Amino acid sequence: MADPPTKKAAKSRPKSRLVVGLSGASGVSYGIRLLEALGELGVESHLVMSKAAEMTIGYETALTPKQVAAKADQVYAIGDIAAPIASGSFKTGGMIIAPCSVRTMSEIATGVTSSLLTRAADVTLKERRPLILVVRETPLHLGHLRTLVQLAEMGAIILPPVPAFYAEPHTISDIIDQLVGRMLDLLGYDWPDVRRWGEDLAKGRRRTKSGKTSS
Ligand SMILES: Cc1cc2nc3c(=O)[nH]c(=O)nc-3n(C[C@H](O)[C@H](O)[C@H](O)COP(=O)(O)O)c2cc1C
Repeated sequence: MADPPTKKAAKSRPKSRLVVGLSGASGVSYGIRLLEALGELGVESHLVMSKAAEMTIGYETALTPKQVAAKADQVYAIGDIAAPIASGSFKTGGMIIAPCSVRTMSEIATGVTSSLLTRAADVTLKERRPLILVVRETPLHLGHLRTLVQLAEMGAIILPPVPAFYAEPHTISDIIDQLVGRMLDLLGYDWPDVRRWGEDLAKGRRRTKSGKTSS
């Protein structure tokens, strides 16, 4: 008989670890920048991307899927349903799918979970961990809207990639960074590239009709 495994020392705090999903909606740069931000924050990233995400990387960036994968600490194949992130016993601080396609959000809402991406999202929900879905489609029909409500009722956080013009973005990178910072806010991380109202911006002043600012 094999020796019993040696007992591990008790740890009071789980490792800072997040699952990142990339699906085939437009805006794959959000997920790529998120991986970079997690690296800057020292958070362990576990990446899974769909085949369609690999396509959009080709259409929307100058990177290859391999180069994107290199930004994560761990990468799993989309069909690898035996990967650690497919089990609730593998502790994580939650999951962000950025961008999240209609197809992926619909799979999560129904519990079909035919890939590691949607299985990991389902696990995140069942373990009552935060699941952030950066759902990107426009316009939305009633079926989309109903699915979004269903996901919100199930505990997911819906964070559409809507630019924050109050943050005075000058470049597309500014818009991406602001949204990535707001995703991380929801999980309790303070990423310095996000611009905050009342701190970096405006300081509570309002613009008057004449264009001047007042307190
Ligand atoms: C360049 C490109 C942009 C796309 N943009 C979107 C989008 O914004 N939202 C969406 O739901 N699907 C979009 N699609 C379609 C999805 O990629 C397609 O529905 C795919 O089956 C999604 O699969 P996945 O959820 O497994 O990644 C886009 C496809 C391409 C090639």
